[in-house]
Amino acid sequence: MQPEATERLQKIAEFVLARRAETESQGYKNFTAFDYEYRWKHTLRVVQYGKQIAETEGADVELTMAACLLHDISKFDDVEYGRDHGRVSARIARPFLEALGYTPEQVNNICFSIAVHVDDKADFEHPVTIESKIVSDADNVDRFGVYRLLLQFKDHAEKYEALVEKAKSRLLTLKKYRSDNIMGTATGKRLFNGQLDVQISFLEHLVEDSELTVDV
Ligand SMILES: [Fe+2]
Ligand SMILES: [Fe+2]
Repeated sequence: MQPEATERLQKIAEFVLARRAETESQGYKNFTAFDYEYRWKHTLRVVQYGKQIAETEGADVELTMAACLLHDISKFDDVEYGRDHGRVSARIARPFLEALGYTPEQVNNICFSIAVHVDDKADFEHPVTIESKIVSDADNVDRFGVYRLLLQFKDHAEKYEALVEKAKSRLLTLKKYRSDNIMGTATGKRLFNGQLDVQISFLEHLVEDSELTVDV
């Protein structure tokens, strides 16, 4: 990557972190310090998954990484935007990207990729791009990582029966994702299926072990 591209990406990362710092300096109401730390680490992983997918798929690596850095920026506000958080993030990102020197086409591509990452809907007209598919794919790959699995199950760790029931129910969902094709790129699908296979194997072991918990 060109040094200027790396510099622009660093400036975008600083922009996101400055927004996080501004919110956190005002205290915690709707979100916790952990939520912001989780969100930033998730963002960094999405950037790396996005880079990997963009390189393999022949997409624009810088634009993909820029969109990945900004895809959840609205989650650093102390506001719950729900399914709108992609579109809100795109609106926050746009003036900053323009000031950074990206062309109008590049700004639109990045903002579209950010806007549609939740539910495929943007609030402005733009064709689907390979970069927009990759940002959604990279986000989904991290959302199905083992760390997220740990977070989903940690409160059940000391309630064994409830844990096993939750595992059984989650397995149905994961197997459905395994058979549906919700990913936009072949590389994203490969990474996503790898994540699903790890989670499915882990939870199947958990359920199988519970069946050994019987009277002698
Ligand atoms: Fe998101
Ligand atoms: Fe995300």
